[in-house]
Amino acid sequence: MLERSRLKQLDQEYIKRSEVVRQVEDQIARVRARMDRVRHKVAVMSGKGGVGKSLVTVNLAVALMERGEEVGILDADLNGPSIPTMLGVERRPYESTPEGALPAVGFGGIKVASIELLLPTATTPTLWKAPQGAWDAVWKGTMEMSTIREFLGDVAWGALDFLLIDLPPGTGDKPATIAQWIPDLDGTVVVTMPSKVSKLVVARSIQFAQMLGLPVIGLVENMAGFCCLTCGAETELFGRPCTEEELGVPILGRIPFDCRLTLSADEGRPFVAEYPDAPAAGQFREVAAKIKEALELKKTFFDAL
Ligand SMILES: Nc1ncnc2c1ncn2[C@@H]1O[C@H](COP(=O)(O)OP(=O)(O)OP(=O)(O)O)[C@@H](O)[C@H]1O
Ligand SMILES: [Mg+2]
Repeated sequence: MLERSRLKQLDQEYIKRSEVVRQVEDQIARVRARMDRVRHKVAVMSGKGGVGKSLVTVNLAVALMERGEEVGILDADLNGPSIPTMLGVERRPYESTPEGALPAVGFGGIKVASIELLLPTATTPTLWKAPQGAWDAVWKGTMEMSTIREFLGDVAWGALDFLLIDLPPGTGDKPATIAQWIPDLDGTVVVTMPSKVSKLVVARSIQFAQMLGLPVIGLVENMAGFCCLTCGAETELFGRPCTEEELGVPILGRIPFDCRLTLSADEGRPFVAEYPDAPAAGQFREVAAKIKEALELKKTFFDAL
């Protein structure tokens, strides 16, 4: 058995040889430099899967863009990326330039970074190959962290008003941990459905985010009722609407169920632009306006300190 001091010495020698520390420090510095040029960073999250996070991210991006904001989306769902499809991004490798890798460009000029564009086909699963003998879970976590940092630090985002981060589902610590890797994250927008199960899971992830000191800007209630396209009548779909008291955060908007939302996302033509007069489009614009207002208010407050 090696003595503890000898182990420590070997450890330090290894770190020196592999230059791991310097590489990580360089990467963190690159992330900071890039993110300094992004005015607002907002993560879209929900403990629950399939409630519409990616759809909300994409339509919110378009609503912000229509207000004249320069917008980018980081698809942080490394195992279930869907942003490129929803934004009609052409599948091609990232172009490397001296300024960094050029982001893909989706609908209306929205900049996108997603692992989907690095995979050979749209249906290839993301697999992290661990070296023999490595502890898979730790290796995977390290690779995921490094990938997100590369998207933040090595993609030439340029100056942006908003970077939206589409987080993966889950009530574990994964989405919140990813959110913590984004320097100076302004806050999170939480997406839920009116069902009791969804509300419970989402309430848990709001609490978790708050415990980690991640500000919650507000909540988007998705699939909140159904609006008949023929007669315009509104009906409840998954239960009673959420209230601000129930979840303890402001409600930014309620998006009704509208099958055209799915169809337009599948075609890569965001709903907000395709059906600007539909009630759901109006709600997305309201969410965009409320987020902008909340963040500007926060900025004025901190600038005055
Ligand atoms: N309000 C809505 N009306 C109609 N279809 C919707 C609505 N919201 C979401 N959808 C559809 O539901 C499906 C799931 O949405 P989406 O992929 O955005 O969920 P998600 O929360 O990002 O899922 P995941 O947890 O897998 O990342 C998609 O096909 C989307 O187009
Ligand atoms: Mg998603």
